[in-house]
Amino acid sequence: MAKESFEKEIDIWTEKYRPRDFEDVVGQKEIVKRVKAFVESKNMPHLMFAGPAGTGKSSVALITAKKLFGDKWRENFLELNASDERGIDVVRQKVKDFARTKAFSGPFKIIFLDESDALTREAQQALRRTMENFTGTCRFILSCNYPSRIIDPIQSRCAIFRFTSLSEKDIEDIIKNIANKESLKVDSKAVKALYEVSGGDCRRVINLLQASASISDAITDETIYQIVSAANPQNIKEILEKAIAGKFIDAREKLLDVMLKQSVSGLDVIKAVQREVWNLSISDDLKVRLTEKIGEAEFRITEGSDEFIQLEAFLASLVLFGKK
Ligand SMILES: Nc1ncnc2c1ncn2[C@@H]1O[C@H](COP(=O)(O)OP(=O)(O)OP(=O)(O)O)[C@@H](O)[C@H]1O
Ligand SMILES: [Mg+2]
Repeated sequence: MAKESFEKEIDIWTEKYRPRDFEDVVGQKEIVKRVKAFVESKNMPHLMFAGPAGTGKSSVALITAKKLFGDKWRENFLELNASDERGIDVVRQKVKDFARTKAFSGPFKIIFLDESDALTREAQQALRRTMENFTGTCRFILSCNYPSRIIDPIQSRCAIFRFTSLSEKDIEDIIKNIANKESLKVDSKAVKALYEVSGGDCRRVINLLQASASISDAITDETIYQIVSAANPQNIKEILEKAIAGKFIDAREKLLDVMLKQSVSGLDVIKAVQREVWNLSISDDLKVRLTEKIGEAEFRITEGSDEFIQLEAFLASLVLFGKK
């Protein structure tokens, strides 16, 4: 039994149902139309995707790269996160390394800089120079929540696209599609609850839907509210304790559960883990070694590795440490 569940692949629905094509993007019609036109002409300026979380910014950037570069999109698309504490120098070095080689297919490469409004003004000045230096070979897509936090010289170099929170109807469409494919029954009150709780953040809707589906195939508004209220950062400690006690499968399941219910990213989990490690009843020596592992996982996640796999690997090392 345990073996079976270990081998069972864990689907993360936000990835499974991430739009693959411009036509799959719900809402954001004007944006999709204009970005599609850039792709068709194989030419585009730097872009700025602004707007709230879970509205399709990363998805549209990915689709853009896939459409422009086809099979070769990975070689021509660099994803960076500006909120990465190691700062603008790392970003600039990576851009340099990436930009040095000519684009494999297509006239330029794309650098997607997530959370660009996390950069300080000085860092943004440096970014602006980098953008100027590599305009010949690269196009930037800057993603941010608040465009007003981006300095004017960068704003004026970008075509700005304002993503809006998805409407109740959009959210309903997304829920219906997933419910259909996963054979779920989601009643109309549950749809309303999902919309209200999420505030139009599609990632949160899908995560809550997946968490609900693990409880029942028939989802009501009560299921949703129950899940939302059960979300608790304390759960992280429980996950760590399970892993150290050698209960890998349990720990992994609980981890997925927390990520879905709280709609937290891998990076958020890692930060919470870092805080919780010091509250565990384990030796100081072990705490130090775990902290080192946390650093590794954090590094790999910010480098763009699959976050769930990195967290799983981290849990696996906890199990191994726990055995010693
Ligand atoms: N407009 C949309 N149409 C269909 N699915 C969407 C849309 N927006 C978001 N989603 C779903 O939500 C998930 C997260 O979306 P995405 O990563 O594109 O959000 P984002 O705008 O980049 O958010 P953040 O600001 O948090 O990075 C996607 O994998 C997809 O499943
Ligand atoms: Mg994103």
